[in-house]
Amino acid sequence: MKEDIINSFNRIALLDDKWDHNQHYEKLLISEISNSDGNALDIGCGTGEFTQKLSKKVKSVYGIDLSPVMVEEAMKRHSEENIQYSIQDFDELNEEMKYDFIVSIATFHHLNLETALPKIERLLKRNGKLIVLDLYERKGFIDRFLDCIAVPINHVLKALKNVRSVDTEEAAAWKEHSHLDEYMTYKELSNVYHKFLSRDVKIKRLLFWRYVLVYKKR
Ligand SMILES: C[S@@+](CC[C@H](N)C(=O)[O-])C[C@H]1O[C@@H](n2cnc3c(N)ncnc32)[C@H](O)[C@@H]1O
Repeated sequence: MKEDIINSFNRIALLDDKWDHNQHYEKLLISEISNSDGNALDIGCGTGEFTQKLSKKVKSVYGIDLSPVMVEEAMKRHSEENIQYSIQDFDELNEEMKYDFIVSIATFHHLNLETALPKIERLLKRNGKLIVLDLYERKGFIDRFLDCIAVPINHVLKALKNVRSVDTEEAAAWKEHSHLDEYMTYKELSNVYHKFLSRDVKIKRLLFWRYVLVYKKR
């Protein structure tokens, strides 16, 4: 299974960077990060686009990703002196280092949250912050209502951003990948975050099929 995820992301890594819903929410995530002389960990850094933005706010960033091709592309496309990239499975990350910020975009649905969250709690410094943007399974009245608003606005935004219909390779790569994605519902996520982190968890549904989570360790 992990081998399939690696192979799929190795293929996706070679596609062009384009505007997507994750990028749409980057400003929201960055607004949660105060300028700091601390350090940050980016879990599932991909090709490093957000990692580079993060590097402007903190002293150093460690970007990790399971996929060797993602890391290779990140080093080529978004390299800064204060970023260190590494091919690294989060499940096997050594826990000696502690972080002021742990950030992750569109990656948490690939992790087992029951083991990942206690590990994150250990990796965070006191007063450290976890900031997560990820996808969830839309289910129930509130989510259906959000869909009704999101779909037309999405069409307009895509036109404004000039996001054209995907080419064959891009469509094929994401189609293959879709079999590897499993999402939790908002309720399941809310339960698991509150179970494994403290009450200082703030989780919010976003319009475009994602949620944002902010947690400050006391
Ligand atoms: C959808 S991509 C998002 C990449 C990047 N965060 C972005 O927003 O463009 C998810 C990334 O998570 C990585 N990933 C998945 N499972 C991982 C794990 N256990 N440890 C580290 N990285 C992982 C994948 O290789 C992939 O690059």
